[in-house]
Amino acid sequence: MTLKTLSIHVAAEFQKHYGRAPRWIVAAPGRVNVIGEHTDYNDGFVLPMAIERYAIMAADSAAAPGKISIYDTQFKESTSVDVSAPVTKGEPKWSNYIRGVLAGFQKRGVTIPALDIAFMSTVPLGGGLSSSAALEVCTATLMEAATGKAIDPIEKALLAQKAEHDFAGVPCGIMDQFISALGREGHLLLLDCRTRQTQLVPMSDPSVELLVVNTNVKHELGSGEYAKRRAECESAAKILGVASLRDATADQLEKAKGKMSEVVYRRARHVIGEIERTTHAAEGIRNSNWPAVGNLMYASHAALRDDYEVSCKELDVVVEIAEDIGYQGGVYGCRMTGGGFGGCCVALVKASDIAAISKKIAADYHMKTGIEATIFASRPAAGATIIKG
Ligand code: GLA
Repeated sequence: MTLKTLSIHVAAEFQKHYGRAPRWIVAAPGRVNVIGEHTDYNDGFVLPMAIERYAIMAADSAAAPGKISIYDTQFKESTSVDVSAPVTKGEPKWSNYIRGVLAGFQKRGVTIPALDIAFMSTVPLGGGLSSSAALEVCTATLMEAATGKAIDPIEKALLAQKAEHDFAGVPCGIMDQFISALGREGHLLLLDCRTRQTQLVPMSDPSVELLVVNTNVKHELGSGEYAKRRAECESAAKILGVASLRDATADQLEKAKGKMSEVVYRRARHVIGEIERTTHAAEGIRNSNWPAVGNLMYASHAALRDDYEVSCKELDVVVEIAEDIGYQGGVYGCRMTGGGFGGCCVALVKASDIAAISKKIAADYHMKTGIEATIFASRPAAGATIIKG
């Protein structure tokens, strides 16, 4: 569904549920990370792009003061949040992404207006495409529309990240919220997670496409393992005597190998290598050097699988199929994307071969795992927008 179709749809749902037209419509995209995985919380580089999948909200001022009503149009579930006092965590679970953002605005001294909201999302849930960041940034964008006060997009991303930390209990880095807030159509975003400086990397060569392959599996250990990886990286940095792994070189790590456990060594090896791969990939994209970018993607996957141990059988199967299709068949590279333990792979492919590649990946993946994959291509989309208001 295009953003236009989606906004017509959510407006109709709002009308049906609340009996009037919405005053505001806002949306924020999910993302796919092309390369730079598990580097954001190590002060490194990431290279995500916003995808044409969105969290979208239609809203209007509500008559009853001090209350926000939220209608989830997909699950036909309604909930409300008391905004007359500091917003706290609550049920249903998904409402915490919204609650966290509202609390963030309250902390900035904003009085939250009473609102009726209808909400939907085309970002697959739990698929590693940042459905939660899209919802958070969408909520923040609605607050901007409804209060008439825009905030700096970097502050907006940080506020959304804090919602994820404090209200969803996930100690995530800054990548997902940044790309959802700052994405630009036709561009990837090279983000320096230390300085928060961003560079737009044009992705306009019509001969290539990025293909998202959703394994449609999610292994539960995800969030506990995420926190564990963060701790292992911090311990590596401490042993190396640096503020974060961004400051360490591969040479330094080799020299200090004896001072750390084999596991911590491998975690650090992935991060140090991945930071370098990410800046090289940005260069490769700028030069349309697709074979080089593809090789960096394969190398990233191997390190995530073997050193960082955040892949899983299904993700590895997709990458193996992509490797089998190979350059001759139109695949330049492929890797898992996002936190890992399920979710999606991203493949860089020749645009002319996209139909055949999708068909082959779907068939082989089903044959090897018994699971149906969901596959789609996306051009780099724009970040959060106020569509009406
Ligand atoms: C999740 C987190 C991000 C990032 C990735 C791994 O998506 O939310 O901050 O750490 O995992 O690159």
